[in-house]
Amino acid sequence: MKLAILSRNSKLYSTRRLVEAARQRGHSVRVLDPLRCYMRIGKEGFALRYKGQSLAGYGAVIPRIGASINRYGNAVLHQFELMGCHTPNPSAAIMSARDKLRCHQLLAAQGIDMPVTVFGDNPDDTDDLLAMLGEPPHVIKLTEGSQGRGVMLTEKPSASRSVVDALRGLYATFLLQEFIAEAGGADLRCLVVGDEVVAAMRRQAPEGDFRANLHRGGSAEGVQLDAAEAEVAVRAAQALGLGVAGVDLVSSARGPLVLEVNVSPGLEGIERSTGVDVAGRIVDFVAAGATGTGMPSRKRVRRRSGMKI
Ligand SMILES: Nc1ncnc2c1ncn2[C@@H]1O[C@H](COP(=O)(O)OP(=O)(O)O)[C@@H](O)[C@H]1O
Ligand SMILES: [Mg+2]
Repeated sequence: MKLAILSRNSKLYSTRRLVEAARQRGHSVRVLDPLRCYMRIGKEGFALRYKGQSLAGYGAVIPRIGASINRYGNAVLHQFELMGCHTPNPSAAIMSARDKLRCHQLLAAQGIDMPVTVFGDNPDDTDDLLAMLGEPPHVIKLTEGSQGRGVMLTEKPSASRSVVDALRGLYATFLLQEFIAEAGGADLRCLVVGDEVVAAMRRQAPEGDFRANLHRGGSAEGVQLDAAEAEVAVRAAQALGLGVAGVDLVSSARGPLVLEVNVSPGLEGIERSTGVDVAGRIVDFVAAGATGTGMPSRKRVRRRSGMKI
């Protein structure tokens, strides 16, 4: 298989591991900076080029598109799809998953449990919005946040109101959630590949914090999920149309709840804490889905891009 990895930095652990796993399996693999891919769109077809060369003929592409270049990166990925290239995570699915409000709506619509979530736009509605959520503590999250940055805990209604007012003043978009105290500052990162959780780790927040992100100083250990946890993680990835995803769960009195779904999950923490060759599992999954022709068929294009033609 001729495989492309869309990544801005070939030195990143995850990118390096995917390249290594692909080479070990005898695939030809190239890392492409999505911002150096440029394209031609016309009725007669789609072209994609990179530093003066054509990018036709790739059987599959693994997107590792950072949130900061989400829009352009997704346009590049979509172009690959339109050219008949297989991807485990289609651009339309990445767009939905990256939009936190939409992502929560899609998950809940599939009956997937999560912390109760509210959001609104007008300051006049804040009191009613907080009433819909229930008693504090509340978790307030910037919709653009990641790695635990922009996730706040408020213990009193007055604190929730002031944070909401402050964020509105900054024109930030955010959502409010019920705080799951039983989680005890721990969450579960589940690495979903296809219809399986191939590796999972429990992350524990450092003393005095409720956010379990490793970037916030959390610690991680490999865990074996129970059946309910594994099932909800796979259902969450599938509800969003993702073949590869990092699904974060917290344990609650009413069962596992989905916190978020990451479309480009980092591989370093999970491979180190579980010893699983996650990169290898991803490459095998992608190779199994690729037809290897790199030729677009109208049927395939329609199915993969969700396009009406
Ligand atoms: N509603 C909640 N109740 C309890 N803990 C939460 C809740 N939401 C988030 N957390 C904690 O904060 C961490 C970061 O939140 P998350 O929604 O994953 O944002 P980010 O995208 O920044 O990682 C989670 O891993 C979890 O440990
Ligand atoms: Mg998270």
